[in-house]
Amino acid sequence: MHTLAARRHQSANDQLQLAVIGAGGMGMTDVDTALQVPGVKLVAAADCYDGRLERVKDLHGADVFTTRDYREILARDDIDAVIVGTPDHWHMQISVDALRAGKAVYCEKPMVHTIEQGAELVRAQRESGKTFQVGSQGMSSLGNEKAKELLEEGAIGELNYAEGFWARNDPIGAWQYEIPEDASEETVDWDMFLGSAPQRPYDPLRIFRWRNYRDYGTGVSGDLFVHLFSSLHFVTSSKGPRKIMAQGGLRYWKDGREVPDILLGMFDYAEADTHPPFNLSLRVNFVDGTSGTTFLRLVGSEGAMDVTWTEVVLRRNRAVDPTDVFLQMKSDEMAQAIEARAQMLPPAESVYLAEDGYKGAHFDHFMHFFSGVREGTPVIEDANFGLRAAAPALACNDSYFDEKVVTWDPEHMEVL
Ligand SMILES: NC(=O)c1ccc[n+]([C@@H]2O[C@H](COP(=O)([O-])OP(=O)(O)OC[C@H]3O[C@@H](n4cnc5c(N)ncnc54)[C@H](O)[C@@H]3O)[C@@H](O)[C@H]2O)c1
Repeated sequence: MHTLAARRHQSANDQLQLAVIGAGGMGMTDVDTALQVPGVKLVAAADCYDGRLERVKDLHGADVFTTRDYREILARDDIDAVIVGTPDHWHMQISVDALRAGKAVYCEKPMVHTIEQGAELVRAQRESGKTFQVGSQGMSSLGNEKAKELLEEGAIGELNYAEGFWARNDPIGAWQYEIPEDASEETVDWDMFLGSAPQRPYDPLRIFRWRNYRDYGTGVSGDLFVHLFSSLHFVTSSKGPRKIMAQGGLRYWKDGREVPDILLGMFDYAEADTHPPFNLSLRVNFVDGTSGTTFLRLVGSEGAMDVTWTEVVLRRNRAVDPTDVFLQMKSDEMAQAIEARAQMLPPAESVYLAEDGYKGAHFDHFMHFFSGVREGTPVIEDANFGLRAAAPALACNDSYFDEKVVTWDPEHMEVL
């Protein structure tokens, strides 16, 4: 087994003042992780449900400024950076407003709710010159970095296929979250939740289980495929697929949701400077009767690697020249070639595992973000990268609902 050494970080002298907009599950997990980075302080929080704001004060002190209206946070000049942890339908608008207000932005995935929103956010990042990073934390993992290095060294030969899946088997995993007992029109700012989504009467299911509704969420592909895309694009240095097709269905969680609980995506990656042509298949299953698990595999002409954020398992096969076999070979040579091809190169399996004490991808993702804010260095997942990861995931919804193949230009970031 090989050990992947964790990064050694230097501590900073200057303090960065942070705010969170959308202080729910992930927003607060982001805050916890961000505050582990030396020199970062939480000074403000915005949320449209009062219970979340009370919790911020309980956890981080009564002097943290809280508001239902995120624009009050953007108007303050004592805030350097904001985390956007709202439902997906608010990501673009809040990020654009924050960049234009001179704030650095860490925006949760998927970067946008619709592909069409991408251009405005890309432009806002460019024009503001401010640091903007999307929160697919696997991007900053030791597992992804090792996989990239191995692929570039030719450890699996020439890439031809990749696959990934996300399987879950419980109600929380299937987004059936708890509705707070005190949730009401008094404690929730319903208009602030809706934003530009269609007007409708207060409905606690829609705010607390927003992922189930297309007006606010992006389905299983926007929630989970997007992680697999960001990791895959990082490892392969790819800008994305050209052809996208998805099928699926609502098979089990018939709780009024508008999106499938099983989704299968197929993607065609054309040849690029950085990689040969290859195919990708992705799957999410919330009806997984076996176990919850996540998986990304890259397959090449000489082997395959299974990649997680903390581990890479590499298996290699002997190469033979495909043009020789079966054309000019005598039968005993052919038998040898078949035998050789079936053999694994020693060692049969190489395992690369993050060392004890590794703080994890999420911490390193925030280190990358705050280094960008402090030093102006490029971040690992900027708006272009974020859109190239989100768009094929969102195109899966278009393919599924409209029963069509979507053609995407990953270079110019346009649906064709
Ligand atoms: N990177 C990851 O691994 C990861 C994991 C989970 C969630 N996420 C992403 O984080 C985001 C939030 O997901 P969650 O599970 O934390 O949801 P959540 O419902 O727990 O939190 C969302 C919060 O946003 C608040 N909110 C809604 N509209 C708002 C507005 N206009 N202004 C201020 N606050 C508003 C809600 O009241 C809620 O507290 C999603 O985009 C999701 O995709 C990322």
